[in-house]
Amino acid sequence: MKGKNVVVGVTGGIAAYKAAELVRLLVKAGAQTRVAMTAHATKFVTPLTFEVLSENRVVWDMWDGQESPMSHITMSQEADLIIIAPATANFIGKIAHGIADDFLSTSIVAATGKMLVCPSMNSRMLSNPAVQENITLLRKRGYTVMAPQEGELACGERGVGRLPEPEQILEQARILLSEHDLSGMKVLVTAGATVEPIDPVRYITNRSSGKMGYALARAAALRGAEVMLVSGPTSLNPPRNVKVFRVKTAAEMRDAVLGHHAECDVVIKAAAVLDYKPRRQSKTKIKKLEEIQSLELVRNPDILAELGRRRSGKRSLLVGFAAETHDLMSNAREKLRKKNLDMIIANDVSREDAGFESDTNAVKIIHRDGRVEELPLMTKEDLADRILDRVKKLWKETA
Ligand code: CTP
Repeated sequence: MKGKNVVVGVTGGIAAYKAAELVRLLVKAGAQTRVAMTAHATKFVTPLTFEVLSENRVVWDMWDGQESPMSHITMSQEADLIIIAPATANFIGKIAHGIADDFLSTSIVAATGKMLVCPSMNSRMLSNPAVQENITLLRKRGYTVMAPQEGELACGERGVGRLPEPEQILEQARILLSEHDLSGMKVLVTAGATVEPIDPVRYITNRSSGKMGYALARAAALRGAEVMLVSGPTSLNPPRNVKVFRVKTAAEMRDAVLGHHAECDVVIKAAAVLDYKPRRQSKTKIKKLEEIQSLELVRNPDILAELGRRRSGKRSLLVGFAAETHDLMSNAREKLRKKNLDMIIANDVSREDAGFESDTNAVKIIHRDGRVEELPLMTKEDLADRILDRVKKLWKETA
């Protein structure tokens, strides 16, 4: 969202308090965020809340003398995206019919950027034919209108009408603002750890959280790629517009990857696959009888190496990760060579702020031709975009 101008328009519904979290998330994501409120909205949340969160003045009164006479034009024209959250029945009706009787509605009439409307109201108000027709009108004009969610409403009833969660609105905003520079590309990403059962109550696994792989899948989908994600068990939410295949063991991951890699242009193997599994899996719980108990392990298939061996003349890219605690560069280079990769992301997992479980990562990207790029510490979301930039460049070069 860096470099993007977003206006959040808050109208007078109880869900206005959720707009505060949305503004916080937009600012955190790097968007230049401004807030405009209707007078009714200020009865629910004060402009000061939004001023503090957005670090910008909040406009709600066209006539307070502090705004330039043209600010409704400049604010809306500078905006890449205007999000109306929550959008009341009244406000939806106004913008559907071009009514411009306050700062926010006037700004929308003057807007040139994208529009995201997030209705929130009582379910009977939502199902009113006038409201439904107004929503249809907005959609016909190219506005994106998010479907309100089902659940407990502020009036105590249950029904459809809840504002989507701020994270979901942010995700939709990302989709609208992304550039789709990877459209036409098919990408397969693997993520997370695999697990190998020992008996019905125990298993072995590793510390991978799946965050890096999920960030890659999500970023590729936002940029317009068709994405398949083969995921080990994680607690992460699946990214939107991504086909997810859930697996547990290395053998299941191998089946999923080998079943789909041929349809894909690019395979990015971010998963931390267990190299070994117990030779035998006990059907019953292993009891503690011995002082020393040993577990015999046998090798799992190396999925990435297998993909590397299977490479034919077909145009494709194979990207691996190398999780290392020592001899980072020599180990990573060796993996790139042995597994026949185009690029490997060398990850020093002994660092607290990088690699497993953390939200940030600092890596070195090694290319097949020997070039090395060192990237500074950044969020896994930003790193995903940087890796995809390299993938895109390389893909063009192989054309
Ligand atoms: N990989 C794989 N299948 C395995 C092991 C690893 O596909 N059985 C992939 C990983 O997804 C990663 C790359 O190979 O992209 C390197 O994984 P890593 O765990 O760093 O190295 P290993 O090849 O397993 O070697 P070692 O454990 O000896 O470091």
